[in-house]
Order: sequence, then C-alpha cells, then structure tokens
Amino acid sequence: MFMKPNLIAENIPMATPASPGGMMSRNDGIGSIGGSRGLGGFALTDGETRKLIDLIYQHSGIVLTPDKKSLISSRLHKRLKALEFCSFRDYLDYLQNGRDSDAELVAMVDEITTNKTSFFREHHHFDYLRSTILPQIATSEWAVLNIWSAGCSTGEEPYTLAMVLAEYFGTTRNFTIHATDLSTQALQTARQAVYDNELGAPIPLGLRQKYTLTGRGSQAGRFRIVPELRERVSFSQVNLIERNWDVAGDLNIIFCRNVMIYFDKPTRRGIVNGFTRKLKVGGHLFIGHSETLGDIDHQFAQVKPTVYTRQP
Ligand SMILES: C[S@@+](CC[C@H](N)C(=O)[O-])C[C@H]1O[C@@H](n2cnc3c(N)ncnc32)[C@H](O)[C@@H]1O
Repeated sequence: MFMKPNLIAENIPMATPASPGGMMSRNDGIGSIGGSRGLGGFALTDGETRKLIDLIYQHSGIVLTPDKKSLISSRLHKRLKALEFCSFRDYLDYLQNGRDSDAELVAMVDEITTNKTSFFREHHHFDYLRSTILPQIATSEWAVLNIWSAGCSTGEEPYTLAMVLAEYFGTTRNFTIHATDLSTQALQTARQAVYDNELGAPIPLGLRQKYTLTGRGSQAGRFRIVPELRERVSFSQVNLIERNWDVAGDLNIIFCRNVMIYFDKPTRRGIVNGFTRKLKVGGHLFIGHSETLGDIDHQFAQVKPTVYTRQP
C-alpha cells in the first residue's frame, strides 16, 4: 500500500553525506589537491605514501601512484584528526596493527575514493533497458528478475533501476535488486533512501510524483523513496576484489558502472570473470561511460558501447 504522499516521518535519522564535502562535491577521478603537508599540516614522507598506496591497493584494488601524495595527505587528514593521531607514522601503525584496523581501512578508502553518483546517471542505459532488454524479459519464462548493482554508492543507481522496473512491469513481474558497495557510509545513506531535493532533479516528474515522498517539517528540502520500492532493494557490503561475494547467482543484469575505472587489469579481469559466473547466459552487464572490457579476455559479446551480454 502506498503511504500518504508528501510526508516523511519526522523521526527518520538523517544520514550525513557519504564523504567530506558531500556526495556532489567530488569528481569521478582521483584528482590532485593540496600540498604534501596536507590541509592539516601532517607531514607525509615518500615512504609513508608508498605504504598507504600499498594498503589502499591491497584492501580495495584502487591503484594510486606516488604523484598522488598531496591528495592522500589532504584526504586522510580528517582520519588522523578523528582518531587523534599526531603523525602518519602512528596512523600507519594503527592501520597495520590496530584493533579496529579493518573498519579503519574501509574508512580510509572512503576518504580516497569518490562516491559520485546520481539518479538516471547515463540515462541511455535505462532507455536501452526499457526499449530492448525488458521487452525480451517480459516474454521469457523467468519468474523473478534478479539484478545486482555492484558499487552502488549512496543508492541512486539501484533506486533508479527499481523505478524503471516498477514502471515497466507494474505488478505483473516480481523483481529484486541487490545493491552492494565497499563504503559503510555510502551504504548507510543508501538504506535511508533520503536525498536532498536537488538530487532528485534528473528523475522524470511523473516518476518522482509516483515513487518519492516529499519531506515536511524537519525533513523539508528532502525526499524519500517510497517503501514499495525500498523493499525491492536490499543492500550489503561487498568488496569486489574479494572473491567470496555474498551475492546470489543466476542474475539477469549486473550494473557495475564507474567502479572498475580505479582498478588495474588483473583486478578487472578477476571481477569480470566473477560477473560471468553470477550471470545467466544471455544476461547483461552494464559498465561506466569511460570503462571498457576491450583489454581483457572475457565471455561477453558487446551489444552497445558499455553494454555486454553473457555468451554460453
Ligand atoms: C563513482 S561511484 C559509482 C556509483 C554508481 N555505480 C554510478 O555509476 O553512479 C564508485 C563506487 O565504487 C565503490 N568501490 C570502490 N572500490 C570498491 C571495491 N573494491 N568494492 C566495492 N565497491 C568499491 C566506492 O565506494 C564508490 O561508492
């Protein structure tokens, strides 16, 4: 049952943006800012830079080069302050030997990477889904349509998928969307499904009226995805560079957009092979606008730039 429109419960705890400066403030790429002393004045040596780069790679697959020293220093300044460390040497020691080092590795990667995303990002993917893939699925005998949004960030991508599918199938077809990310903070925002009004601009008006609730009182200026869509999307933390992904197989569609851009070739090859095992034959893989499978061996046929289908 749809909730009364134009209301968000007053007691929804609002998640903070997934990263300092907010989710709209970063670029997709990992750019260069600040000096090697960083914004807070913590000196970072070349040796410490190399160790941090190694840890970031081992934990997330993200490749950084030593020329990103200033960026690393600036971005991690906040972590040192939060944990009350006086130097990068102490921070590194904590990352390598501390009791909560696993959680801190996630928090560190969160500062380094970007969570940039948006509703209907690269909308041609959703047009293709509607015009070509969903009509094929509609005539198939699959009882349930299963989709994975891998690297879902703060949830805009899986909720966009949920809107498109709900709109296309109505109540005639069951579908599930499993959405995963490495970032604890991004997943927290995604589960809340509450967004600032400006972020809803790319959602077509009709869909916005149907699938979002308008905030009132303390939630003014924000909207929330309706419960009927929220319950179709489940979230969990999955590190794509680990092979034991806790994600069901036999999927129809995988979206993994603007994530592999940070990875080197062996990492991308491993992930794409993993996607092959998770997808049904004939299932589709969507990747980001500046990504390609062109330089790795794979079992996919390209149906459009950045859209692939799994071969037998
Ligand atoms: C730029 S966002 C892309 C969001 C969305 N797919 C889109 O295209 O709008 C990249 C996401 O990849 C996630 N990420 C980076 N490394 C990852 C890893 N090793 N495993 C899972 N997610 C990762 C980041 O946390 C971030 O949320």
